[in-house]
Amino acid sequence: MGLNENIVDEIKSRCNIVDVIGRFVVLKKSGMNYKGLCPFHNEKTPSFVVSEDKQIFTCFGCGASGDVIEFYQRYHNMDFRSTLEALATECGVQIDSIKYYSEGKKSELYEINRDAAAFFYRELRQKQNVAYDYLKNRGIDDQTLKKFGIGYADGEWQSLFNYFKNKGTDINLLLSLGLISKSNGRYYDRFRNRVIFPIINTRRKVIGFGGRAIDESMPKYLNSPESIVFQKKNSLYGLNLARQDINRENCAIIVEGYMDVVSLYQHGIRNVVATLGTALTENQVNMLKRYTKNIILAYDDDEAGQMASLRGMDILYSVGCNVKVLQMGKGKDPDDFINENGKEAFLELIDKAMPFIDYKLHLLKSKLDISTTEGALNYLKEASRILKPLSPVEADFYIKKIAEDTKISEGAIRLEVYGNNRNYNSQNVIKTQKKDKYTSEGASLLEKNLIKLMLERSSYIPKLEPYLEKILSPTYYHIYEILYSLYKEDDDIDIKKVKDSLDEKENAILKDIIDNIEIADEHDKVFEDCIEHINRIIRKKRENEIIKLLSILNDDSDANVIAELTKELIDIQRKNRGET
Ligand code: UTP
Ligand code: MN
Repeated sequence: MGLNENIVDEIKSRCNIVDVIGRFVVLKKSGMNYKGLCPFHNEKTPSFVVSEDKQIFTCFGCGASGDVIEFYQRYHNMDFRSTLEALATECGVQIDSIKYYSEGKKSELYEINRDAAAFFYRELRQKQNVAYDYLKNRGIDDQTLKKFGIGYADGEWQSLFNYFKNKGTDINLLLSLGLISKSNGRYYDRFRNRVIFPIINTRRKVIGFGGRAIDESMPKYLNSPESIVFQKKNSLYGLNLARQDINRENCAIIVEGYMDVVSLYQHGIRNVVATLGTALTENQVNMLKRYTKNIILAYDDDEAGQMASLRGMDILYSVGCNVKVLQMGKGKDPDDFINENGKEAFLELIDKAMPFIDYKLHLLKSKLDISTTEGALNYLKEASRILKPLSPVEADFYIKKIAEDTKISEGAIRLEVYGNNRNYNSQNVIKTQKKDKYTSEGASLLEKNLIKLMLERSSYIPKLEPYLEKILSPTYYHIYEILYSLYKEDDDIDIKKVKDSLDEKENAILKDIIDNIEIADEHDKVFEDCIEHINRIIRKKRENEIIKLLSILNDDSDANVIAELTKELIDIQRKNRGET
């Protein structure tokens, strides 16, 4: 990789695999080793084993295995370089220089991959073989095989190796592409007895391969390792063929598997791409966004697929996509579904795809018993979290739905949702209290400024009339009342008359203002600032009041009031955030 080999050794020697994995997977000591639930496939009994002795992990369920770096890379779905950087930072190793391969080197690698793909394709088509029978069995026709360039790696150890050796290809390049492996000084084909799916980017370069086992061997799908031409997080299977259709339909369907893409394509649904056995990444989403903002997730209808959907949709939403989720029924994937039910039925599923918030709420509800109080409250809490990133208008739509489902008042739900707002969540209570104290000090400075303004320019006295009762503390308000009554007699206020009307305490305050408060800017400017400040305080008070009101109003009889108040609240919060 052009990376200092020492860094890898350094990292391995500094972090214990048990500690690193233990942060992400609950591990229990079991004999010499540690055991836990595999994070790379869905399981209920632990088959994921970590050896402290050997510093490796292995899953007997899905065949995943490797060292600490491989774990970290796969778990976080990162490329090799970022993995090293992240682990290096965690264990305090310095990475100072990372070298890159040149474009020239890359095109050599693309060429080798293309050559290998052609080799695998010929192997599939030129003689009788198990892969071709297997694919026929799964309903794939010759035209589709050709379109996707699907091929066959036979069961021998050195078929591809011999092919390249005869051509004089540099073995190190074959190794770096993961086409060939080396063990005990011998080279052998990495893909054996597998159907081969070439992964082709939108510039028509073959960047890697996925190989599906024809028998029961593990792993079911073997993918090319990350290389300088292949990063899973930057690639989507099928995008080379699908992008025009995605453009035309203004919609992309994301599936989990190679076979889902191929099978849907053959049935005439062609705006489809697959992630490569990993969770959807931001880079993949950004690639798709060049073609459309409308995304439908059609992941397998099982626990793992649901988890993947949930993670995927947040990324999609965060970059501004419209996300919907397709539901095929328990345990099914798109390939199964379309083979059983045909194209029309699949198109109907697309029509009925759920907006992702509905999907999240639906999933949440299916896991809780909302007919019990406890269930309903849990539902409310989790649902509020789901609604939090939405715009107020979107959120309001769902609040009504949740209220119907749970029989909890809309007001209470609103309180939960808006109460989670950054101004109100409980973590911020301390901050808020401090801030309030600050505000009240600030307010008294505001009060002093106001009095000083009025003393210096009596014309402000009537202008402030609508604001002051809500703002001023009693003492200050009394001073204001005196000023106002004197102003009505004569707009040139005699300060001596003011003093005579005030008691001792009030006079002390007045003296303080006259001696110590200086109007720092032009009077009109300061006046405007004061008004702005007053408005902010009034909004804050009103916001608290509305939230309290909403929590006690009755949904049915007060529906109109609730609607009005909600609108007002949204408006206030928008203003407080500085939007207009
Ligand atoms: P699935 O196990 O859901 O298989 O893996 P599938 O797509 O339904 O395949 P068939 O129908 O049994 O042939 C979905 C995807 O996850 C990745 C592959 O990209 C696969 O297409 N995967 C799965 C792996 O990378 N390795 C595996 O061992 C299994
Ligand atoms: Mn399948």
